[in-house]
Amino acid sequence: MEYKELIRMALDYRKRSYSPYSNFKVGAGVLFTSGKIYGGCNIENAAFGPTNCAERTAIFKGISEGETRIEAIAVVGSLEEYTYPCGVCRQVISEFGDQNVKVIIAKSEEDYIVKSMGEILPGTFTKVDLENNNK
Ligand code: THU
Repeated sequence: MEYKELIRMALDYRKRSYSPYSNFKVGAGVLFTSGKIYGGCNIENAAFGPTNCAERTAIFKGISEGETRIEAIAVVGSLEEYTYPCGVCRQVISEFGDQNVKVIIAKSEEDYIVKSMGEILPGTFTKVDLENNNK
């Protein structure tokens, strides 16, 4: 899988951002281990709290279609500065992927950086912690 294809997906879905409150458009493209990719945008709400980030929109689309494990995810927010996934989205990525998941933080198809989940969310709290506690 080319990073560029995932970034293109994020850029396409960014155009669908529903963000009348922040005016901050975000798009994401997520690659699952099946080889399929899904896109998503941020979706805001007048009550603010129900707002869903682009990354989670894309992930939940995939999971609800039967996908199970994430391989890589691209995110495009600002086109001027790199926009990293928020803490909540990092936690959600970690539910469906290990520390090797690649996180592509892009401004454009040509301008991006690649981080691993291990770099941006070390020491993750996972279901293993819950299982250990119940022993
Ligand atoms: N946002 C995302 O979609 N992804 C992130 O990782 C950071 C924040 C959205 C949520 C909200 O609609 C807007 O950006 C401003 O916070």
